[in-house]
Amino acid sequence: MRTPTHSLRPLALEHLLIVDARAKCAAVRAADWSGAPVDAAARIVCLETLPGRAHLPVLVSPHRVPQRSCTTRQGRAALIHALAHIESNAVNLALDIAWRFADLPIPFYRDWIGVAREEALHFEWLDAHLATLGHRYGDFPAHNGLWDVAEKTRDDVLARLALVPRVMEARGLDVSPGIRDKLLQAGDHAGAAILTRILEDEVGHVAIGNRWFHALCKARGIEPESFEARERAARDGPVPKGPFNREARLRAGFTDREIAALERAQK
Ligand SMILES: [Fe+2]
Repeated sequence: MRTPTHSLRPLALEHLLIVDARAKCAAVRAADWSGAPVDAAARIVCLETLPGRAHLPVLVSPHRVPQRSCTTRQGRAALIHALAHIESNAVNLALDIAWRFADLPIPFYRDWIGVAREEALHFEWLDAHLATLGHRYGDFPAHNGLWDVAEKTRDDVLARLALVPRVMEARGLDVSPGIRDKLLQAGDHAGAAILTRILEDEVGHVAIGNRWFHALCKARGIEPESFEARERAARDGPVPKGPFNREARLRAGFTDREIAALERAQK
């Protein structure tokens, strides 16, 4: 039986293919996701290059991304642009995990669509703030680090959860307060307020990643710690880098034991 195109996972893929970031975010926020049924068993094949992406921003290697000193208006615009790019990628990642992996519990798909909608809102806040600094999304080069990890984990949802929400997105919890403080020091109170709201939402997103990671590990009889280490090595995945925001990570579902292990690995 064909999966109806209005069902949630094909709809997520359809949105992932939208090229313009602004149009994608607006569409993600406007779509009737709650009215879309979920066909968890469907095997969906996509032959197109993912994600849909405009020719701007130009993608460069991480060390060629411009300096983002907050002391100049241009530097601040570059920083806000980098954050908007992360949010744009985060929308893509949430849509991708929602369409790609079959046979998961229905709340799994609904959770990630909820994340995609919040990430789209984050993009819109930052894009609007960028406009007050005289720039648009696409004006600065950006790097593709987040999507690269999505590519490396395209075949296994558990590896995706281990390396994207639990490493890449959790890193956002660690660095956000410092970025917010720099914006405050530069007198950018509106930017700092956006960062504060985003951090709160990101705690929720990482919590969703943690919850599903542990639930699926349990369901598959997998030991989380050794799985994570093995997958990171096998897939050349990102390594968690401290210092860690212990308070935010605890709220996002990391255990004391996990945080202690992360801290030990830094020594
Ligand atoms: Fe976000």
